[in-house]
Amino acid sequence: MTSEALGPTPAATVRQRASEVHALQDISADLSVAVEAPLFAEAANVGDAPEIHRLIQYWFETTGDVLPRTEGEIYETIRDFVVVRDPGKRRLLAAGALHVEWKDLAEIKSLVVDPGTQGRGLGRIIVDACLDEAVDMGLKTVFALTTTPAFFERLGFRISGVSAFPRKVWNECFRCPKYNACDEIAVTIDLRERLNA
Ligand SMILES: CC(C)(COP(=O)(O)OP(=O)(O)OC[C@H]1O[C@@H](n2cnc3c(N)ncnc32)[C@H](O)[C@@H]1OP(=O)(O)O)[C@@H](O)C(=O)NCCC(=O)NCCS
Repeated sequence: MTSEALGPTPAATVRQRASEVHALQDISADLSVAVEAPLFAEAANVGDAPEIHRLIQYWFETTGDVLPRTEGEIYETIRDFVVVRDPGKRRLLAAGALHVEWKDLAEIKSLVVDPGTQGRGLGRIIVDACLDEAVDMGLKTVFALTTTPAFFERLGFRISGVSAFPRKVWNECFRCPKYNACDEIAVTIDLRERLNA
């Protein structure tokens, strides 16, 4: 069981998280040289979980663009995640997960790019890697729930209604703290052409 599952977050933990966010920003400031090298997505390993958690927590706390995940949830789903690391392999620049929902449907979740490396194609690298994996697995449709649908539209997704994914609504949305005030938009991409290619 994770500390998050044990009850209210102690103040010390909140302070620790705040200092982690600052550390992330500090490191981001000097990334311009590192990201000139070719970057690629690769499967996450368990050692990536704390960094993935830190990036998700950063975006949850600063913009609310992603839902929070406990470190425990990240370990449990670590095989869903792909990551982009900096060329020196010292740290994580981006992450995202492809979560299979049903025989023909998967969701892209927890897509996060380091705040110092936005707009350099890392989000696209993660999404493309998730879509390649979806095609390899024979999945026909991938969707995401997002506050930034325009980003996904650039990558070939179309806006759709969340009601198109009733299983998602029943399984997860009903338990979400944002259920009655959801600000996320469903986007979807049809992979059937790629499957037949
Ligand atoms: C949204 C996010 C994943 C985009 O990643 P990124 O690395 O900055 O985006 P990329 O550089 O790969 O952009 C790919 C394309 O999308 C466009 N784009 C990126 N962010 C966009 C946005 N917010 N609105 C509209 N278009 C956007 C880019 O201009 C680019 O278009 P082009 O290739 O035609 O020039 C990243 O900014 C992020 O982590 N944001 C905070 C967390 C979040 O919102 N996650 C998504 C929740 S599902």
